[in-house]
Amino acid sequence: MTVGLGTGTTAALMLRRLGERIRDEKLEFIAVPTSRATAELARELGVALRDVDEVAELDVNIDGADEIDSQYRMIKGRGGALLREKIVACIAKKRVTVITDDKRVDRLGQGAPVPVEISRMGAKHIERRLQKLGARTELRRHDDGPFVTDGGNLIIDCHFAEITDPADLDARLKSVVGAFETGLFIGLCDVLVVGTTDGVELIETKAARFPGCE
Ligand code: A5P
Repeated sequence: MTVGLGTGTTAALMLRRLGERIRDEKLEFIAVPTSRATAELARELGVALRDVDEVAELDVNIDGADEIDSQYRMIKGRGGALLREKIVACIAKKRVTVITDDKRVDRLGQGAPVPVEISRMGAKHIERRLQKLGARTELRRHDDGPFVTDGGNLIIDCHFAEITDPADLDARLKSVVGAFETGLFIGLCDVLVVGTTDGVELIETKAARFPGCE
């Protein structure tokens, strides 16, 4: 199998479990990581890795999420890997999201901002245009400077008073020149795995696929 490996604390737990199965059951698969951090952990665990452009498609992609609503639309990117995560999710035949119960929300944006990965050049102008779309913006920071993604870009976290139409917001944010991708993941969750205190719930979402991936 070919497997996309997400980024974040949940994806790391999933990856460690796969590592155990490689060791104990001689499980074999080829994986595409969505970040340097995930690639590093995967290498430690003996997972065979490929670059995204070395595979035609993936059998499955497994990743976490920051928020997910009743239509299985998500906000991702708190870990800063949203652009790579979306590219990898797009080439997977089946997209699995693994979350804990608390990530389920009535409305996206309740607790998480929408991250937008942007060009470093012209960042102030791009941020101003995002504000014109109604966002209260915050340049994501790390230590003493701006947070820089694995792709060398910046992230603007966009807070909205209310997100009524996530697909429309995604399109409007991406219409800003220099905005490469948003953390709104729509039509990218085929299976939702929810960890609760009572056990694990598995939901086949039957959500329509994201047209941008066709
Ligand atoms: C990484 O950029 C994110 O999209 C993560 O997948 C998301 O933030 C979930 O992370 P946790 O599993 O750490 O909550």
